[in-house]
Amino acid sequence: MSLPVLVDCDTGIDDAIALTYLAVHPGARLAGIVSTGGNVEVDAVHRNNLALAELLGIDAPISRGAQRPLVAEPMTADDTHGPHGLGHASVPEPTRATDPRDGAKLWVDAAHEHPGELVGLVLGPHTNLALALELEPELPQLLKRLHVMGGAINHRGNTGPTSEWNIAVDPEAAQQVIQAFTAAPSRPVMGSLEATETVRFTQDTLERFGDLARSTGHPMATVLVDALRWYFEFHEADGLGWMAHVHDPLVTAHAVTGDFARTSPLAVDVELVGTLTRGQTVGDVLGRWGREPNVDVLTDVRPAEFVEHLLAVLADGLAQVARPC
Ligand code: RIB
Ligand code: CA
Repeated sequence: MSLPVLVDCDTGIDDAIALTYLAVHPGARLAGIVSTGGNVEVDAVHRNNLALAELLGIDAPISRGAQRPLVAEPMTADDTHGPHGLGHASVPEPTRATDPRDGAKLWVDAAHEHPGELVGLVLGPHTNLALALELEPELPQLLKRLHVMGGAINHRGNTGPTSEWNIAVDPEAAQQVIQAFTAAPSRPVMGSLEATETVRFTQDTLERFGDLARSTGHPMATVLVDALRWYFEFHEADGLGWMAHVHDPLVTAHAVTGDFARTSPLAVDVELVGTLTRGQTVGDVLGRWGREPNVDVLTDVRPAEFVEHLLAVLADGLAQVARPC
């Protein structure tokens, strides 16, 4: 049985790998894609999602999200993901139609179409999920489970010293989502930096993505390796060496398979007013707040197994995906 998945992403280089994984993994069935501004502005994210869907033969509805975060000033990460969000990769101008609904409406309609079955997967800021919760306050009860890539709990940030990008772009939205899902039948799974940064793509990984392009002959594999090359250049320029921390695919693979990591319950909240720490995800490890845990954070990641799984799924899957005409 394949899981219906609604993915909300700010495509982005690692989002593109995650989308490819979802498109080809037999255990996932895309119920919709929501484009959220983040790595690049929302129209560029939406163009990327439409273009990648065309390359991958994804026929799920794709909706453009809100123009900007709920409160915060918009920010983008052109240095990290490139001016168009896919690094050095170029993709054909999309010809497929965008869904006339906005992102929030697509969230709500997808949840009603798959009551109790839909997996929500947020790989970017939480802006459109927060707007969907305003439309449908019962959304937490309608989803099978919510999985998010976001946060840095007992780990340095990658945006501010203590904040992770997806939360930092729209902290108000992230706090509204975390609060709303406290009442959900199962706690949201949060893949924060301390989990996702255990996955380190090396030169060998980059070469294996290059091999994918040659072995499958699929243009999407070429997009991914060209996008990843930019990501390596960014990480090197950021002082982290010739490597890449690839966040979204780990959270996505765990959402689909339940594998490659374990989870641990934790009470988490989002700092909104700290002059130095706005956007920080604070985890109450010692229980000082006296609150019940409200998220399950990813722990005990098995990065090597995950990378082998990712490459195998992409190799098998892309070899079977029809080449776009
Ligand atoms: O902090 C990493 C996250 O921010 C990833 O989802 C990346 O794509 C960016 O959205
Ligand atoms: Ca992302």
